Amino acid sequence: MLHALIAGSGSEIPPNLVKNEALARIMDTSDAWIRERTGVETRYFVDAGTSTTDLAVPAARRALERAGVAPEEVDLVVFATMTPDHFFPGNGGLLQARLGLRPVPCFDIRQQCTGFLYGLQLADAHVRAGLAKTILVVGAEVHTGFMPWSAGAWARLAGDVDAPLAPGEWEFNTRIRHLTVLFGDGAAAVVVRAHEGAGRGVVDHLLAADGADYDKLCVPGVGFKHRPFVDHAQIDRGDFVPIMEGRYVFKMATTRMTEVAQAILARNGLTTGDLSLVLMHQANKRINEYVQRALGIPDEKVVHNIHKYGNTTAATIPLLWDECARAGRIGPGDLVLLVGFGAGMTWGATLVRG
Ligand code: COA
Repeated sequence: MLHALIAGSGSEIPPNLVKNEALARIMDTSDAWIRERTGVETRYFVDAGTSTTDLAVPAARRALERAGVAPEEVDLVVFATMTPDHFFPGNGGLLQARLGLRPVPCFDIRQQCTGFLYGLQLADAHVRAGLAKTILVVGAEVHTGFMPWSAGAWARLAGDVDAPLAPGEWEFNTRIRHLTVLFGDGAAAVVVRAHEGAGRGVVDHLLAADGADYDKLCVPGVGFKHRPFVDHAQIDRGDFVPIMEGRYVFKMATTRMTEVAQAILARNGLTTGDLSLVLMHQANKRINEYVQRALGIPDEKVVHNIHKYGNTTAATIPLLWDECARAGRIGPGDLVLLVGFGAGMTWGATLVRG
């Protein structure tokens, strides 16, 4: 029986560290509010012009190097992102070309914050079916394209300008502060290899989606529901800025993540006591603390990094994996539970042995 083993991982964090205090220069917010309500202390932003693929390239190179895999061995790419470089083509092929891979199949998947878990299932299914042996699974995002801030606001954020923002702009930025303070840019990748024998690799997946309430977390405009798909009216209304009903999303995330974690453990005859580590999507530290309490998992088994990076959507779980792997926290055979929830709504859990 072939199993999908995570053989190496890598990540890329962009250069511009932005503290909560810096955001308070361009909207009515504070370090205390953001820390207390979300757990975020800093996030990193790309320079203007850097794309999701640009971040994914070094992350993937590091993953290949740590796995001891040459680019020509890769036989499948799965790229999870909700912030692609272009409407089309997808990022998978762009990454394939930039890494100098053979012309292998490349999937682009859009399950937002659950994207990496969906990607792992695709990789595992290809391994089990004998369709691929060495797969690059990437989660990467450049959220700063969603931040509808003026050049003046960006200059204030960077500390280049001291003068206060014009009142209208300050008000506009404040209206969407519940959203913009949460997110950061980042990329992470893993190399999945076909592995013979039990005791290591992906054990099980449990994925779900329910689109009934998609509009509680979505980008309302700039899509092919409109003809043309983008126009001045949409831009003027700000329809390119995501809508997020924070309290609803918070409730759904805590409920679904708890349920799916319990269900995957139960159907594998496992308990939380069998887990070495739990890596949860990093959307809000309070969501994860709630899930941790509901599952009864001790602090030492739960790793957070939202304080450093904010929510990096498809990148959060592989970023956590990469940090833990490099810190020696995932040994051969260690059982790790990955849990995510995201727009769609989508959610899922994956059990992996290191
Ligand atoms: N700074 C200061 N005040 C803020 C703020 C900010 N960045 N964002 C919102 N507020 C204010 C609100 O305007 C509101 O003010 P009011 O009481 O005067 O009306 C107050 O804080 C409480 O707002 P509320 O939305 O109830 O706060 P909350 O505790 O629910 O926290 C979120 C808001 C967005 C942090 C929280 O709901 C959340 O994290 N939800 C899940 C989001 C998520 O996971 N998204 C990604 C999904 S994968």
